[in-house]
Amino acid sequence: MLGRLNHVAIVVPSLAAAAETYRSTLGATVSEPETLPEHGVTVVFVELPNTKIELLEPYGDGSPVASFLERSPGGGMHHVCYEVDDIIAARDRLKGEGARVLGDGEPKIGAHGKPVLFLHPKDFCGTLVELEQAWAPVRARIILKAAVTTGITLLLWGILFAAIEFEVFSFREIAGGYTQ
Ligand code: CO
Repeated sequence: MLGRLNHVAIVVPSLAAAAETYRSTLGATVSEPETLPEHGVTVVFVELPNTKIELLEPYGDGSPVASFLERSPGGGMHHVCYEVDDIIAARDRLKGEGARVLGDGEPKIGAHGKPVLFLHPKDFCGTLVELEQAWAPVRARIILKAAVTTGITLLLWGILFAAIEFEVFSFREIAGGYTQ
Protein backbone atom coordinates (compact mmCIF):
# COMPACT_ATOMS: atom_id res chain seq x y z
CA MET A 1 0.00 0.00 0.00
CA LEU A 2 2.80 2.47 0.85
CA GLY A 3 4.64 4.30 -1.89
CA ARG A 4 7.47 6.83 -1.66
CA LEU A 5 8.46 8.71 1.49
CA ASN A 6 7.05 12.10 0.49
CA HIS A 7 8.52 14.07 3.40
CA VAL A 8 9.61 14.12 7.03
CA ALA A 9 8.12 17.02 9.01
CA ILE A 10 9.93 18.97 11.73
CA VAL A 11 8.16 21.50 13.96
CA VAL A 12 10.24 24.61 14.67
CA PRO A 13 9.76 27.64 16.93
CA SER A 14 10.95 30.03 14.18
CA LEU A 15 10.41 29.14 10.54
CA ALA A 16 12.65 31.98 9.34
CA ALA A 17 15.56 30.80 11.53
CA ALA A 18 15.05 27.13 10.57
CA ALA A 19 14.84 27.95 6.84
CA GLU A 20 18.07 29.96 7.16
CA THR A 21 19.80 27.06 8.96
CA TYR A 22 18.88 24.65 6.16
CA ARG A 23 19.71 27.19 3.44
CA SER A 24 23.02 28.55 4.79
CA THR A 25 24.49 25.98 7.19
CA LEU A 26 23.31 22.85 5.35
CA GLY A 27 23.37 24.37 1.84
CA ALA A 28 19.93 23.05 0.88
CA THR A 29 17.28 24.42 -1.48
CA VAL A 30 14.42 25.84 0.62
CA SER A 31 11.03 26.93 -0.76
CA GLU A 32 9.22 30.16 0.08
CA PRO A 33 6.93 29.98 3.18
CA GLU A 34 3.32 28.96 2.55
CA THR A 35 0.54 29.38 5.13
CA LEU A 36 -2.12 26.67 5.30
CA PRO A 37 -4.91 28.12 7.52
CA GLU A 38 -6.93 24.89 7.35
CA HIS A 39 -3.98 22.98 8.85
CA GLY A 40 -2.95 25.76 11.27
CA VAL A 41 0.64 25.87 10.02
CA THR A 42 3.07 27.85 7.93
CA VAL A 43 5.43 25.58 6.03
CA VAL A 44 8.60 25.60 3.93
CA PHE A 45 9.94 22.60 2.06
CA VAL A 46 13.60 21.63 1.93
CA GLU A 47 14.17 19.88 -1.42
CA LEU A 48 16.44 16.83 -1.24
CA PRO A 49 17.34 14.49 -4.12
CA ASN A 50 15.17 11.62 -2.81
CA THR A 51 12.57 13.32 -0.59
CA LYS A 52 11.65 16.56 1.18
CA ILE A 53 11.87 17.95 4.71
CA GLU A 54 8.83 19.96 5.79
CA LEU A 55 9.57 22.66 8.37
CA LEU A 56 6.40 23.65 10.27
CA GLU A 57 5.60 26.68 12.39
CA PRO A 58 2.23 27.12 14.20
CA TYR A 59 -0.26 29.47 12.53
CA GLY A 60 -3.32 31.00 14.21
CA ASP A 61 -5.18 29.92 17.34
CA GLY A 62 -5.47 26.24 18.13
CA SER A 63 -2.70 25.16 15.76
CA PRO A 64 -2.21 21.38 16.00
CA VAL A 65 1.56 21.91 16.30
CA ALA A 66 1.40 24.54 19.10
CA SER A 67 1.04 21.89 21.83
CA PHE A 68 4.03 20.05 20.32
CA LEU A 69 6.17 23.17 20.86
CA GLU A 70 4.91 23.49 24.45
CA ARG A 71 6.29 20.02 25.14
CA SER A 72 9.42 20.50 23.02
CA PRO A 73 10.18 24.25 22.87
CA GLY A 74 13.25 23.71 20.69
CA GLY A 75 11.20 21.84 18.05
CA GLY A 76 11.58 18.29 16.82
CA MET A 77 10.41 15.60 14.42
CA HIS A 78 6.62 15.71 14.06
CA HIS A 79 5.47 13.25 11.36
CA VAL A 80 6.44 11.18 8.35
CA CYS A 81 4.44 11.32 5.12
CA TYR A 82 4.02 8.30 2.86
CA GLU A 83 2.42 8.35 -0.59
CA VAL A 84 -0.50 6.10 -1.50
CA ASP A 85 -2.22 5.59 -4.87
CA ASP A 86 -5.78 5.90 -3.58
CA ILE A 87 -6.28 7.69 -0.26
CA ILE A 88 -9.91 6.61 0.20
CA ALA A 89 -9.06 2.94 -0.41
CA ALA A 90 -6.07 3.25 1.98
CA ARG A 91 -8.23 4.89 4.67
CA ASP A 92 -10.95 2.26 4.42
CA ARG A 93 -8.41 -0.57 4.57
CA LEU A 94 -6.68 0.92 7.64
CA LYS A 95 -9.99 1.52 9.41
CA GLY A 96 -10.82 -2.12 8.71
CA GLU A 97 -7.53 -3.04 10.42
CA GLY A 98 -8.58 -1.01 13.49
CA ALA A 99 -6.28 1.97 12.89
CA ARG A 100 -7.50 5.40 13.99
CA VAL A 101 -7.75 8.16 11.40
CA LEU A 102 -7.49 11.64 12.95
CA GLY A 103 -10.12 14.39 12.55
CA ASP A 104 -13.37 13.59 10.78
CA GLY A 105 -11.64 10.96 8.65
CA GLU A 106 -12.16 12.91 5.43
CA PRO A 107 -9.03 13.81 3.41
CA LYS A 108 -8.01 17.49 3.40
CA ILE A 109 -6.00 19.18 0.67
CA GLY A 110 -2.36 19.44 1.81
CA ALA A 111 0.56 21.66 0.88
CA HIS A 112 1.02 20.02 -2.54
CA GLY A 113 -2.63 20.36 -3.59
CA LYS A 114 -3.13 16.65 -2.93
CA PRO A 115 -5.50 14.95 -0.45
CA VAL A 116 -3.93 14.02 2.91
CA LEU A 117 -4.96 12.17 6.08
CA PHE A 118 -3.28 11.68 9.46
CA LEU A 119 -3.12 8.41 11.41
CA HIS A 120 -2.92 8.10 15.20
CA PRO A 121 0.70 7.77 16.44
CA LYS A 122 -0.28 5.11 19.00
CA ASP A 123 -1.24 2.79 16.14
CA PHE A 124 2.05 3.33 14.25
CA CYS A 125 5.05 2.85 16.52
CA GLY A 126 4.65 6.18 18.32
CA THR A 127 4.96 8.20 15.11
CA LEU A 128 2.31 10.44 13.58
CA VAL A 129 1.81 9.24 10.00
CA GLU A 130 0.51 11.41 7.16
CA LEU A 131 -0.78 9.72 4.02
CA GLU A 132 -0.75 11.71 0.79
CA GLN A 133 -2.39 10.61 -2.44
CA ALA A 134 0.31 10.50 -5.12
CA TRP A 135 -1.82 12.37 -7.67
CA ALA A 136 -4.01 15.47 -7.32
CA PRO A 137 -7.66 15.11 -8.36
CA VAL A 138 -7.70 18.78 -9.37
CA ARG A 139 -4.90 18.09 -11.86
CA ALA A 140 -6.96 15.29 -13.41
CA ARG A 141 -9.83 17.77 -13.83
CA ILE A 142 -7.55 20.30 -15.58
CA ILE A 143 -6.31 17.60 -18.01
CA LEU A 144 -9.92 16.53 -18.73
CA LYS A 145 -10.96 20.14 -19.35
CA ALA A 146 -8.02 20.69 -21.73
CA ALA A 147 -8.90 17.47 -23.59
CA VAL A 148 -12.55 18.53 -24.01
CA THR A 149 -11.54 22.05 -25.18
CA THR A 150 -9.07 20.57 -27.71
CA GLY A 151 -11.71 18.09 -28.89
CA ILE A 152 -14.31 20.84 -29.46
CA THR A 153 -11.75 23.02 -31.29
CA LEU A 154 -10.77 20.15 -33.61
CA LEU A 155 -14.45 19.35 -34.22
CA LEU A 156 -15.21 22.97 -35.22
CA TRP A 157 -12.22 23.04 -37.62
CA GLY A 158 -13.42 19.71 -39.03
CA ILE A 159 -16.90 21.13 -39.67
CA LEU A 160 -15.39 24.24 -41.33
CA PHE A 161 -13.17 22.22 -43.69
CA ALA A 162 -16.00 19.78 -44.45
CA ALA A 163 -18.25 22.74 -45.33
CA ILE A 164 -15.55 24.10 -47.70
CA GLU A 165 -14.96 20.63 -49.17
CA PHE A 166 -18.65 20.24 -49.96
CA GLU A 167 -18.72 23.81 -51.33
CA VAL A 168 -21.18 25.14 -48.78
CA PHE A 169 -19.01 28.23 -49.15
CA SER A 170 -15.56 28.84 -50.62
CA PHE A 171 -12.31 30.29 -49.30
CA ARG A 172 -12.90 33.23 -51.66
CA GLU A 173 -16.17 34.01 -49.90
CA ILE A 174 -14.46 33.83 -46.50
CA ALA A 175 -11.56 36.01 -47.67
CA GLY A 176 -13.80 38.22 -49.85
CA GLY A 177 -14.41 40.83 -47.22
CA TYR A 178 -10.68 41.39 -46.82
CA THR A 179 -9.45 41.24 -50.44
CA GLN A 180 -11.99 43.51 -52.13
CO1 CO B 1 3.27 16.82 6.19
